[in-house]
Amino acid sequence: MKGVILAGGLGTRLRPLTKITNKHLLPIYDRPMIYYPIQAMINAGIEDILIVCGGNHAGEFLRLLGNGKEFGLKHLNYTYQEGEGGIAEALGLAEYFIAGQKVAVMLGDNIVEKNFRRAKEEFEAQPKGAKILLKEVENPRPYGVAEVSGGKVLGIEEKPEHPKSNLAVIGIYFYDSQVFDIIKTLKPSGRGELEITDVNNAYIERGEMTYTVLDGWWGDAGESFESLIEVSNLVYQTGANKVE
Ligand code: G1P
Repeated sequence: MKGVILAGGLGTRLRPLTKITNKHLLPIYDRPMIYYPIQAMINAGIEDILIVCGGNHAGEFLRLLGNGKEFGLKHLNYTYQEGEGGIAEALGLAEYFIAGQKVAVMLGDNIVEKNFRRAKEEFEAQPKGAKILLKEVENPRPYGVAEVSGGKVLGIEEKPEHPKSNLAVIGIYFYDSQVFDIIKTLKPSGRGELEITDVNNAYIERGEMTYTVLDGWWGDAGESFESLIEVSNLVYQTGANKVE
């Protein structure tokens, strides 16, 4: 399975930290943020990776990561997202790279403690559709929130004021190649972006969405200054995505 890491956007929520660099290059304890999703993908057995970068500092990704030698990779693929069209638009840029296969997608600011290989293998065995990963959190409001019943996802609400559960939809998603047709039908949300939650709800409507609850801790390091420091502390205390 191929992997796509989404690292575009202007990181406006983290200004002035993101005024002179990209959010995904900010430090999380002893490594730049983008190192964690790359290592997480590799640990899950995904080595053919496309990084979607964007914003004003995209060249720095190449300078930092090159062909991925530091990760034991022979090659890394890059593409560029113009503007801030959202996560789903960024994923749409990967269509030529995925070329009809299944894909694992990870947001460049999401950091997980443990290996998600099990979920990847479950999705490989799934005939079609999509899979999301869920994690129970204290305050689900800043995230996509899933309503589940009887082992099925009934729906997802993006940043709801009154969440229907404590289950956050974390930024690791698995899709079959229908995802690119779904993205082409999307309309921008209130925040002017093509939302990944709308992609996921389209799969739910088709009855083709499964979910797995993530093992270990999860953090969206780019959500706020607080999450940036909290995730750094978690990595410092327990480690995350070590070379396996
Ligand atoms: C995005 C998604 C949201 C998800 C979150 C995970 O939010 O839209 O559904 O729960 O990532 O990190 P954003 O980072 O764009 O606010």
